[in-house]
Amino acid sequence: MDIGVDIVDITAIAARAPVIPVLTIERTADAVPLARALLKGGLPVLEVTLRTPAAVEALRAIAAEVPEAVLGAGTLLQVRQFDEVRRAGATFAVCPGCTPQLVAAAKAAGLPFLPGIQTVSEAMALAEQGATVMKFFPAGAAGGIAWLKAAEAPLGSLRFCPTGGVTAENAPHYLALGNVACVGGSWVAPRQAVAAGDWGCIERLAAAASQLKRR
Ligand code: 3PG
Repeated sequence: MDIGVDIVDITAIAARAPVIPVLTIERTADAVPLARALLKGGLPVLEVTLRTPAAVEALRAIAAEVPEAVLGAGTLLQVRQFDEVRRAGATFAVCPGCTPQLVAAAKAAGLPFLPGIQTVSEAMALAEQGATVMKFFPAGAAGGIAWLKAAEAPLGSLRFCPTGGVTAENAPHYLALGNVACVGGSWVAPRQAVAAGDWGCIERLAAAASQLKRR
């Protein structure tokens, strides 16, 4: 399955903001105002998860109307989805875990790739494939800050984006770790605020998140 090209590195995208909002969009009409509120708050990197029927249309709408967003597609589980999201305007791809087939699909699509890992062996397997930044998912359930601290000595050259159970309260502690590139989370776009069209609330949450310091 090795197609002879490298994984496109996601380091530069991960460096753009301390927090990647993880967005599950139920109504396409919410996509653009939601993206605008997050950008206005200072979070330019967005991950739209492919968990709803509206997700691909939401990607298209944000790509067309909020071109300053660094737009990623997440929850990619199938090879064919890489091409689909690239055509919809996504400029990076995120997976909750990973397989050799998904690595090959990311390479073939030429999309910067944030593959998911939960164990040291999974991280080592992806490092062999050329990944240097990985999503640590589900961070809270898989060992959280203690795991990341313990992994830093043996996996010193790798950086992680912990996601899953990251909150406004614990994000500063994750971001203080030397092997954390950025964190991902849904707390900056609460379901109720999106449903109510409370874009001011989302902008305020994004503004607070954008000020978080990394090591
Ligand atoms: C993800 O898909 O990355 C997570 O579901 C986000 O997790 P959170 O809702 O705990 O932030």
